[in-house]
Amino acid sequence: MSLVKLLKKRNKKILFTTPSHSQKLAVFKPLKSMYKIDISETDAHDPVKALLKAQERAKKIYKTNSTSFLTNGSTSGIIASVLTCTNLGEKVMLWRNSHPCHLNAVRLAGAIPIFYDLEIDPDWGVPLETEPEMIENYLNAYDIKTLIITSPTYEGIVSDIRKIKSICEKHNVYLIVDEAHGALYPFSERLPESAVNIADFTVQSLHKTAGGLNPTALLHCMCNLRVEKALSMINTTSPSYPLLASIEENINYLNSWWGKRKLDRLLDELEILRDECGNCEFFGDDLTKILLKVPNLTGEELSEILFDEFDIEDEKTNEKSTMLLCGIGTDKKKVEKLKKALLSL
Ligand SMILES: Cc1ncc(COP(=O)(O)O)c(C=O)c1O
Repeated sequence: MSLVKLLKKRNKKILFTTPSHSQKLAVFKPLKSMYKIDISETDAHDPVKALLKAQERAKKIYKTNSTSFLTNGSTSGIIASVLTCTNLGEKVMLWRNSHPCHLNAVRLAGAIPIFYDLEIDPDWGVPLETEPEMIENYLNAYDIKTLIITSPTYEGIVSDIRKIKSICEKHNVYLIVDEAHGALYPFSERLPESAVNIADFTVQSLHKTAGGLNPTALLHCMCNLRVEKALSMINTTSPSYPLLASIEENINYLNSWWGKRKLDRLLDELEILRDECGNCEFFGDDLTKILLKVPNLTGEELSEILFDEFDIEDEKTNEKSTMLLCGIGTDKKKVEKLKKALLSL
């Protein structure tokens, strides 16, 4: 039985179990319907088994060795993957400005961090791709066990994962790709190639671009290591089944005809925006990250004008450029409002 179906089933027993709201006492009213489906792992319908089956189905969709559902974000996926493939005292290579969970993962594993830097594009103020040659130089110089790279970057710059993976293979190094911002990639050929089937471990946040609830995410594994032990060290023993079921439904949606059509239409809209806004410059490898500049405006000035005059809030701004994030839930109306605002500048 799917997790979604299981949560719809009424348990007819008189429950003297957790959770203590007994699915009825909804103290926080806006979440009333969530209380109704908030069951514990001991529920008679066996949600633990349903979760394992849901993950098996996800594994088939993504064509991985394993795909684990995460309810503590990509943060927990990065930590679990480092703990899985790295032992005490071994060296892990990571980007100096990576998300804090990368260094935290290395610390938790008792490993030694070896930092690398990424070049910042002088015209756009954003970090550029992870250069395979730079990685190779490090792997020649140090005895590295694990490499973590961020692709795409926050701003949508994608690295050559295939090349980096082949260098890692040559040096017997595990590759972890932080694809937190690329959860839509496996579902459209119009987006960059996903690392899911290339890297040893790939972590994706569903909540960032793929329509998931905060903080749902996925940990994909392509190597022959098992992530369960590490996950059990950092996860609660009382997971949120409503969140887990939302992950199951989310993946099914992304993989469905409806989900793919929705994504295709979003990409059409974003291509039109780029074509029609001739007064703006665009950068980056990922259509869903609108990284742009308007001549004679700094990134901060552009951000301020969009916010004050058009009620449009961007995701990230630097001195040179501004980035507006789109995801599966970004509709045509929203993109058109942005287009109108940009054209009027
Ligand atoms: C590149 C990157 N990796 C990892 C994370 C952590 O993701 P999550 O919020 O899903 O834990 C973030 C969050 O902003 C991020 O930007």
